Amino acid sequence: MIVLTGFMGSGKTSVGKLLSHQLGVDFVDSDDAIQAAQGRSIATIFAEDGEAGFRAIEAAVITELLAGRSGVIALGGGALATASVRAALKDHQVVLLDVELAEALRRIGDDPERPMLKLGDAATLYRARQAAYRDAAEVVVPVTGRTPREIVSDVLQALPKAAGGVGE
Ligand code: S3P
Repeated sequence: MIVLTGFMGSGKTSVGKLLSHQLGVDFVDSDDAIQAAQGRSIATIFAEDGEAGFRAIEAAVITELLAGRSGVIALGGGALATASVRAALKDHQVVLLDVELAEALRRIGDDPERPMLKLGDAATLYRARQAAYRDAAEVVVPVTGRTPREIVSDVLQALPKAAGGVGE
């Protein structure tokens, strides 16, 4: 599968939808899959189970999705914090949508559906996560100031076997 990772506001969902459309494959967003499986919003899961509870659910949902489906998957921005998620990514094509901090902050505002913004400082979180994003990624695509169409074109160029290899 092609796996899109990156900080909140990097555009994983919009890029993922366009990329999957162009490739003619399925798209799944891990946050949507979590909410469907739980029958609860992300904000409610954080409120009821805490971040640790959310991460455990998130890791279980993502490892199942990676094992069972082909296509494009967009991961929540904190998913790589969990070791089992990092390990499950080894056999997949991981693309980092590399957004500058200022642009990410502009895009996410103070979205109440993003509970991590209430738990800590977004800039600190952003810096702390960069190493994990870069370690996991086979391809890094800059996204600041660019359209989803331009970004998808970069991804396809960087992953020439994508059209035939998304199921691998
Ligand atoms: C999170 C990012 C969110 C969502 C949850 C936690 C994070 O996904 O999984 O609110 O820790 O950065 P997006 O990156 O799609 O906003």
